[in-house]
Amino acid sequence: MSAERLPLTHDAIPESRRHIYESDPILSARDLVITFGRVVGLDGVNLDLYKGEVLAVIGDNGAGKSTLIKCITGAYVPDSGTLELEGKRVTFRRPQDAREAGIETVYQQLAVIPALDIASNLYLAREERRPGILGSVFRMLDKKGMKERAGTSVQNLGIQTIQNMGQAVETLSGGQRQAVAVARAAAFGSKVVVLDEPTAALGVKESGMVLDMIKQLRDTGLAVILISHNMPHVWEVADRIHIQRLGGCAGVITPQSHEMGDGVAIMTGAKTLEPTA
Ligand SMILES: Nc1ncnc2c1ncn2[C@@H]1O[C@H](COP(=O)(O)OP(=O)(O)O)[C@@H](O)[C@H]1O
Ligand SMILES: [Mg+2]
Repeated sequence: MSAERLPLTHDAIPESRRHIYESDPILSARDLVITFGRVVGLDGVNLDLYKGEVLAVIGDNGAGKSTLIKCITGAYVPDSGTLELEGKRVTFRRPQDAREAGIETVYQQLAVIPALDIASNLYLAREERRPGILGSVFRMLDKKGMKERAGTSVQNLGIQTIQNMGQAVETLSGGQRQAVAVARAAAFGSKVVVLDEPTAALGVKESGMVLDMIKQLRDTGLAVILISHNMPHVWEVADRIHIQRLGGCAGVITPQSHEMGDGVAIMTGAKTLEPTA
């Protein structure tokens, strides 16, 4: 049984994007609660995420953005609340559980290992063995195959500036490194990609490249959660914007329904949203 859908601000979703909301959400979180001693991390948060959409999560420092995505990606186990993926109840005890279910996370730090080459980074922790006895008995890695497929996934995402998959990641720019991390998250039959502040450390041009990648992920039918402090970036790529405040959700808006200034005002508590019925 699927969780009851949360209300959508439908009239504020442009005609061209409305089809996304005709299917059931791919991911639904209901009443997520987590406390750390006396600190309330989440006080009963709901979230719906749809295939092919970019859902941004914004909020002040300490509002619970990272905690929310950690509860969705298995890094934290909530005290209570439920998660449904494709209409089925799921429980993630560790990040590996969420990954195996198709939820990939790209964190701001530690996204890639600089000394390894691009292909190796793309296949970290899931190296492919050579076919036949060489792979099954001698545990030989299929380096050639990995390199070829890495090249394809990077090209699919339009990162033309990366030429050589054997190039060490430490020789890449910040934006290219982040691009490799995003390509890695998108490359393995994942359904949901969570990006925590992917443009925070990047310059304007590099941020533009990562935003383009996010749009491409969305267009291939992935569901994307984007945590960001950068309001122009959020207003550029998000379909909907979940505003997290003091451990709760202060509302869900769209770039069409609200100006950036309103979003910030709701985030800080200067304005409140009328509750949707
Ligand atoms: N592992 C933890 N231990 C103790 N407190 C935590 C932990 N993780 C998060 N918190 C607390 O939960 C609240 C929300 O934090 P966080 O989700 O990191 O906020 P945001 O990402 O929006 O800045 C903060 O008060 C933070 O101190
Ligand atoms: Mg955070």
